Amino acid sequence: MGTLDLSRLDPARIPRHVGLILDGNGRWANRRGLPRTAGHQAGEEALFDVVHGALEIGIEWLTAFTFSTENWNRDPEEVSFLMWFNEDLLLRRRDELHELGVRVLFAGDLDDPRVPDRNRRHMAETERLTAHNRRMTMVFAFNYGSRWEIVEAARRLAEKVAAGGLRPEDIDEATFAAHLAVPGMPDVDLVIRSSGEHRLSNFLLWQSAYAEFVFPGILWPDFDRHALLEAVVEYQRRDRRFGGAVDAVR
Ligand code: IPE
Ligand code: MG
Repeated sequence: MGTLDLSRLDPARIPRHVGLILDGNGRWANRRGLPRTAGHQAGEEALFDVVHGALEIGIEWLTAFTFSTENWNRDPEEVSFLMWFNEDLLLRRRDELHELGVRVLFAGDLDDPRVPDRNRRHMAETERLTAHNRRMTMVFAFNYGSRWEIVEAARRLAEKVAAGGLRPEDIDEATFAAHLAVPGMPDVDLVIRSSGEHRLSNFLLWQSAYAEFVFPGILWPDFDRHALLEAVVEYQRRDRRFGGAVDAVR
């Protein structure tokens, strides 16, 4: 909580799209002798504090990895808790996101029969409710995996080619990107993974081609807007060259 010291930032170099890999909920709970699910519950406040921080900083796109295509391999009780919790969180907090001017989108395999119908319905309702908001776009990467997303894009392009609506030689990077889960999503500038793990874990592989990575050692439930600010300060210290030379004039 609390307001951020924005004078620490260069307003001309605010990351437009920040990706968040929320990690460390289970460890946070374990350290307190609590069930892992208590860690996920504690992570909610961290996420919403970060949303407020992102709005203060002026970040336009925030993508949070809330359930991966690999998370189905967890204990069935934890999986059903996460399904219920994601839905419950939406129902409790979508009005708040709406009032903040946040457009909410979901990226992931929502046709997967393992995703409960009620979840699917509430996600669709939330997208509709917030569709016209423009202050920030928040993407929940839910039942998301980057390889799934890339394969889906390839499949849809192949279908168009097979149907005669597209020539293979007309497929370029922009065409491909337009077939990803969220058409129009800008490249990720900054990926933050909490808890000290240094992995991308199948998150936004295409979109993070030129991203900067920051790995704070904080467990996700202890994360907040101040930790976000620190990550953005670190991002602004980096020299982004996009393949250019070190001494190129910027
Ligand atoms: C991240 O925390 C939350 C989700 C992936 C849903 P973890 O549950 O991965 O926590 P650790 O890594 O076991 O501490
Ligand atoms: Mg983890």
